[in-house]
Amino acid sequence: MGRHLDGFIFVLFGAESDLSSRKLLPSLYKLAYWKQLPEKYRIIGVARSPVDHDGFRAYAKESILEHASGDVVESGHLDMFCENLYYARVDLTKAEGYSLLREEIDRIVMSDPSCSNLLFYLATPPGLAPHIIDNLDKAGLGGKKGACNQWRKIVIEKPYGFDLKSARDLSAIVGKVFHEEQIYRIDHYLGKEPVQNILVFRFSNGMFEPLWNRQFIDSIDITIAEDFGIRTRGAYYEKSGLLRDIIQNHGLQLLAAIAMEPPVDLSADAVRDEKEKVFRSLRPLTKETVSDNVVLGQYEGYRKEKNVAPRSTVETFASIRWHVDNWRWKDVPFFMKAGKNLAKRVTEIVITFKCPPQNFFGPPESCNYTANQIIIQIQPEETIAVRFGTKRPGKELVTDPVFMKFDYKTSFEHEKMTPYQRLLLDAMAGDQMHFIRQDAVESSWLVVDGIRDAMKDVVPEPYPVHSWGPELKR
Ligand code: BG6
Repeated sequence: MGRHLDGFIFVLFGAESDLSSRKLLPSLYKLAYWKQLPEKYRIIGVARSPVDHDGFRAYAKESILEHASGDVVESGHLDMFCENLYYARVDLTKAEGYSLLREEIDRIVMSDPSCSNLLFYLATPPGLAPHIIDNLDKAGLGGKKGACNQWRKIVIEKPYGFDLKSARDLSAIVGKVFHEEQIYRIDHYLGKEPVQNILVFRFSNGMFEPLWNRQFIDSIDITIAEDFGIRTRGAYYEKSGLLRDIIQNHGLQLLAAIAMEPPVDLSADAVRDEKEKVFRSLRPLTKETVSDNVVLGQYEGYRKEKNVAPRSTVETFASIRWHVDNWRWKDVPFFMKAGKNLAKRVTEIVITFKCPPQNFFGPPESCNYTANQIIIQIQPEETIAVRFGTKRPGKELVTDPVFMKFDYKTSFEHEKMTPYQRLLLDAMAGDQMHFIRQDAVESSWLVVDGIRDAMKDVVPEPYPVHSWGPELKR
């Protein structure tokens, strides 16, 4: 049994979305199976299909059987879980449906008052968020009006806006109905075990932190590479592009975890304060500096993907040199490379240390060859390796790189939670540490908008599928 959780109703907007069927419903089921959910809970799926409660239960069951991992799908248990599922048919843009939703909620609460807390989850396309929030408010379901000690929370999926202005507009709408402490902006990267571990690795080990600065570190490389293209998401990708899809959120969140100062304590805001300082220290990239520091690419064949314009100039790759202008990091480049259809799927952070002042040992290029590195692999492996030089066996005094490696898989036996399982539990428990605060949304859009503005006339360089993309001169 995990943390104490209050009974609640989980209201899943976009209950028939890909995200719901692949991730959210299977995650909720597994949490229930592990007895991590509170004793009393209900899940109301909200969507447009003309189905009833049983129809939704059948759909959820099918999704769970298809997507829940492991051998835990036992039908008795699954049927019990499905008894907690309800359905409300609502056109999300119209106020009327929300009174039906409200009635459904009231009915559940009447029959079981311990379920009166409400968690709204928006697994919906970004354009619908303002409608949902406004209509929730009109139906008396807005967060600020939560009665007595009952809580109301809202979880919002990325993208949170598509630039600084739209993010602020969205924030103004959400802010009218919910307080910041009730808003959970999700970035699933923050639910990954090795990403959460960065904080622990850095601040629980006396031996790394003293070296974690410009005096000893030469450069940092953050790679988020995928070996597949945009799949069926052409329409979304044409409006998004890689800078918005990956850099503004996952990429900058990884950078902040590596660059932040120790928080004053482990409260959500203390941690997020430090990340925010990193975003504010990022050197803006401007028309004058962008060409030396950013390369954009587009994989060959992208323009032939479904729902992609034949002359699209949307980027599917970016390689960026960031600078964090503060006392710890001044002049240390943070290289960030991300892209679709690259040579392999890997998300990794490499911290490369400076060479010793004298290179006694051959070969002459041995510093680069054996430079000390800490390599944090987030996926597909979940490992941390330390690379160092050691004497090659034989008569000569020459160095070869070797590795000491920690692997989550072999060091721990726990059944692993997925990012969504972890983040769902955090949201239920009211822990916002791994959710994005509004100030971070804005400061990360600010720098990404800066690049997009400065490069608005640049056509991304084509690159062959399964290559490493165009190179940024280092
Ligand atoms: C999503 C992006 O946020 O993250 C996708 O929209 C991307 O384009 C995905 O494929 C990557 O997530 P993960 O966890 O597979 O690295």
